[in-house]
Amino acid sequence: MRLTRRKFAQSAFGAGIAAALPAALFSGCTVSSNAARSPNSTTVAGSHAVQSGASSEIIFPGNFYWGAATAAYQIEGACKEDGKGESIWDRFAHTPGKIKNGDSGDVACDSYHHWREDIALMRAMNLNSYRFSISWPRIQPGGSGAANSRGIDYYRRLVDALLEARIRPFVTLYHWDLPQALEDAGGWPNRDTASRFADYVEVVSRALGDRVSDWMLFNEPSAFTDLGYLEGRHAPGRRSVIDFLRASHTVNLAQGAGFRALKAVRPGTRVGTAFSMSACEPASDSDADRLAAERAHAITNLWFLEPAMNGRYPEALAFLPETAMRIRSGDLEKMRAPLDFIGINLYYRTMASASGALERLAHLQQWLLPVKMEAGRQGPRTGNGWEIWPQALYDILTRISRDFNRPQIEVTESGCAYNDGPDAHGVINDTLRIEYHRQYLQALGRAIADGADVRGYHAWSLIDNFEWAEGFSQRFGLAYVDFKTQQRTIKESGRWYAKVAAENRVGPGL
Ligand code: FCB
Repeated sequence: MRLTRRKFAQSAFGAGIAAALPAALFSGCTVSSNAARSPNSTTVAGSHAVQSGASSEIIFPGNFYWGAATAAYQIEGACKEDGKGESIWDRFAHTPGKIKNGDSGDVACDSYHHWREDIALMRAMNLNSYRFSISWPRIQPGGSGAANSRGIDYYRRLVDALLEARIRPFVTLYHWDLPQALEDAGGWPNRDTASRFADYVEVVSRALGDRVSDWMLFNEPSAFTDLGYLEGRHAPGRRSVIDFLRASHTVNLAQGAGFRALKAVRPGTRVGTAFSMSACEPASDSDADRLAAERAHAITNLWFLEPAMNGRYPEALAFLPETAMRIRSGDLEKMRAPLDFIGINLYYRTMASASGALERLAHLQQWLLPVKMEAGRQGPRTGNGWEIWPQALYDILTRISRDFNRPQIEVTESGCAYNDGPDAHGVINDTLRIEYHRQYLQALGRAIADGADVRGYHAWSLIDNFEWAEGFSQRFGLAYVDFKTQQRTIKESGRWYAKVAAENRVGPGL
């Protein structure tokens, strides 16, 4: 089977860090089991989600956010319009061989012109939250300086129309489209990029902070630093352990600086980041595999979260190659960004095991970091081969809740690729997508009932779109997009989601 982006990342991320971090770094970590729980238990917690009997019907809290998510480069198109500058994704997608079928986001879903239709879809789905991202090079075409007013105007119009439709604008400031000019100046490995990011955040919050109050600084910092700087499978396409480590540290500094910039302009604003997470399970009951799962958890889930919440790198990664990462004195305090909520993107789980002696001898990296990370294989697979494992969402929500003192959490993404298209009657009968979201929402409801403070769920994605290196080959939308005509059609999953949002519950009959 072809290696997906994500599976590749799972194996490579660990291996890449391994090249730079000695095994002894990981010895002090605590071992805890993944919160195992029977799927039908019925804890009821006060005014929180209520699970009725063993029927596994879940009623969500009254103010729950039912949302969908997108990202600028994946949907907007209009790649050169109204003064927009070039981003690293514009450059990367036009580099031969980087994107499947030679696709690019030049036009994508053309949401830059079709945004009213997108809002109509949200209304039809009864959504009360829309997570979208702002394209940095639309606001600062060259990555610094004054705002491009035409770029700002586009987002003002979008936000005003959302507010008018009583849909919360839930805005990501960076979903991977760095201005190319900043990449030319060194990109994320260059620590100056943290200051550029803080300037950009200030510009945006001055322009939109009167109407947007919920922000995410970054989308999936581990994905874009790993895939962009270590693996080279995403923009800007570099392959270097050192670049990856330096990019990580700059992003952590930028998270602190961006947080302070937003709070300085709008103290009352609610600020988080959308982290990519995966429940890391030991492949067996052995002590060695349990320890490996904790190492995997630190790498996968805490590398950017712990610096923000606690101003330090994860305990399990205590002895960092500080010189290689260019960590300076005072940096730990600068990284601190006590987020108002933790955004979690979760699609699947990760199986972790200790490397065997032979493997360690054969691969220096596994000698240095004895953890192997692989995708789970027991569950059914989505159309693009990702394991469906709803318990992973329960496990990560309850663990993050426990380990970070019951923070507010938003599920900022979850979803599945299936390429169903219209039948003879124009109906897109994507029943497997309905099953996916039903099961993940039931897991989420159980986590709320067991104490996690989860405020919303955002299906990835509102509409089929440009899926990075996979181009248009994977459809994640609740609405179908005909990329020739740009016509949008709500799938059966979108109709189902509309009912869930309207009734504020999921259950066997729904
Ligand atoms: C996440 C990304 C999002 C989309 C989904 C499928 O990692 O944040 O842009 O590609 O995966």
